[in-house]
Amino acid sequence: MTVITNVEDLRVLAQKRVPRMFYEYADSGSWTEGTYRANEADFQKIKLRQRVAVNMENRSTRSTMIGQEVAMPVAIAPTGLTGMQHADGEILAARAARKFGIPFTLSTMSICSIEDVAQHAGEGFWFQLYVMRDRGFIERLIDRAKAARCSALVLTLDLQIIGQRHKDLKNGLTAPPKMTLANMIDIATKPRWALGMLGTKRKQFGNIFGHVSGIENMGSLGEWTAKQFDPSLNWGDVEWIKKRWGGQLILKGIQDVEDAKLAVASGADALIVSNHGGRQLDGAQSSIDALPSIVDAVGGQIEIHMDGGIRSGQDVLKARALGARGVYIGRPMLYGLGAMGEAGVSKCLEIIHKELDLTMAFCGHTQIENVDKGILLPGTFPK
Ligand code: FNR
Repeated sequence: MTVITNVEDLRVLAQKRVPRMFYEYADSGSWTEGTYRANEADFQKIKLRQRVAVNMENRSTRSTMIGQEVAMPVAIAPTGLTGMQHADGEILAARAARKFGIPFTLSTMSICSIEDVAQHAGEGFWFQLYVMRDRGFIERLIDRAKAARCSALVLTLDLQIIGQRHKDLKNGLTAPPKMTLANMIDIATKPRWALGMLGTKRKQFGNIFGHVSGIENMGSLGEWTAKQFDPSLNWGDVEWIKKRWGGQLILKGIQDVEDAKLAVASGADALIVSNHGGRQLDGAQSSIDALPSIVDAVGGQIEIHMDGGIRSGQDVLKARALGARGVYIGRPMLYGLGAMGEAGVSKCLEIIHKELDLTMAFCGHTQIENVDKGILLPGTFPK
């Protein structure tokens, strides 16, 4: 068996083990996938400054995100249908995050319910909310997240309507999955995945089945989203949700300085510079490119987080140097899960942590709290 040494190894293994329909749901972006690719590629353009003969003993990557302690400034991003990469996926990922000491964010569109995941999650259990037309449903979700002791609400603002993803359309991604002959043959070649799914006793789509109308007959994800998600979402809704929730609030999906200013005005605790992993507006700027101008404009008033394209600890360090207090990983977690379940997510976190720790040391720092733009080679990073 291949020795797993980086996130790419986990991706390759996940591709072998997860049915194509679900693997490609994760490993894809919208339209030309240009923004999806740019998210990763733009990290490569940024160069680090190597320093030598600096005492590298006693290093620490410990930090905080919205005041909550983290073993490294990385959280698990909310991803829908995580439980389709591996049976009980959200529970396994939440456990791995708890053991590592980083926050886990559960998507509204998860397979396992808030209540089921809460039994396994640690203190950093965050819930991600999508705004749907049915406001009663939103209220009930917020109440459930409170009852499950979620310590932050991550409100996603960039999916009022859904970006077109060609692979999902071609693969017939529906819920429940459309059993075309091609899909059945593909699943038959992934027995480990299929056995796991047959063995799980958990209710599927635990946050929405029985809680929102029309879900029993969901059809294609695109169709269902168009019916349920609220295209009229606006800043007045953010205010209403903030009041109703009453706890720490993080706004996800900010790419523009003007929106960042509105996020500050809303009174949120943090914003996430994100383009939804290149799954919404194709042609948008990469996240790491968008980060510095937002940090410049509002970094002194609100905590800035980012996601999109983080594939290594080096990327975490670069984002931190450019002003992100913390970052989120979506696909790296999904690859780990698809490859090896909970052990795969743990492996992913260990890999990223080790890369972060060593790179920080090579750049002449022992404490992540002291890292700043000075570790980056002038002229190679976005402004
Ligand atoms: C997502 N993302 C996402 N975001 C969100 O707020 N709610 C969700 O349900 C989902 N679902 C989802 C599914 C899949 C398969 C992916 C890949 C992504 C976006 C996610 O939170 C995050 O913004 C990106 O994944 C970050 O980019 P990387 O780390 O995947 O490159």
